[in-house]
Amino acid sequence: MARRKQIYEGKAKVLFEGPEPGTLVQYFKDDATAFNNKKKGTITGKGVLNNRISEYLMMRLEEIGIPTHFVRRLNMREQLVKEVEIIPIEVVVRNIAAGSISTRFHIPEGTRLPRSIVEYYYKNDEFNDPMVSEEHITGFGWAAIHEIDEMLNMSLRVNDYLAGLFLGIGIKLVDFKVEYGRLYHENGDVQVVLADELSPDNMRLWDFKTNEKMDKDRFRRDLGRVEEAYQEVARRLGILPESGPTDVKGPSTLQ
Ligand code: TMP
Repeated sequence: MARRKQIYEGKAKVLFEGPEPGTLVQYFKDDATAFNNKKKGTITGKGVLNNRISEYLMMRLEEIGIPTHFVRRLNMREQLVKEVEIIPIEVVVRNIAAGSISTRFHIPEGTRLPRSIVEYYYKNDEFNDPMVSEEHITGFGWAAIHEIDEMLNMSLRVNDYLAGLFLGIGIKLVDFKVEYGRLYHENGDVQVVLADELSPDNMRLWDFKTNEKMDKDRFRRDLGRVEEAYQEVARRLGILPESGPTDVKGPSTLQ
């Protein structure tokens, strides 16, 4: 079998050359890491679930006018995406205190924040993804001021939309991380688009009634039943792989 050219291997995904210029194939692994690679493991079936969940959420966001790199899902573990130049900034949006903001400011986990808070981190394992300000981002040339504006505006829209979508299926969107890329159009235009993935690997999702964690914190904190939690998110979204691609029904609204 002809081997495709591998472009990049990350902790949870691999990127291969795509079938036509300007495209890549994004392959979702079962590998999981936490705390900047210090904790490693596998979550059986995670890649299949994240491929589906990310496909579903990116498609919904495209429908409300958020440009993304997503083109189409190819198979259980792969999706076709547009080739972009990743902006090395992780944008985190928080609605409820958890994780590092709770540690940093001694806010009990679960405290609703007075308003959604956006933070930027420099995507660099060697430096442990430090939190950075707009001054660092523009000063070190990682992104231009108008690109930061676009990332901020899109991230807040993504937050509003996803918070509502998850609320409808009985899930609180506590926080999430997104990444953006520059899409170079043939006419010379450069567009900032949502890239990477949107999955329980990069979000905190809590059951609305019980506050049970349904995301990668189950792996980070050794809470067990990690795969089941990801499956439950997919089930509530109406996209559990077993149902097959033809009978995906979309979310079933809770009464
Ligand atoms: P934090 O509380 O650890 O800063 O994480 C905030 C959110 O960002 C949480 O939903 C997990 C996600 N995240 C990533 O996706 N990748 C990372 O490297 C980190 C540190 C957090």
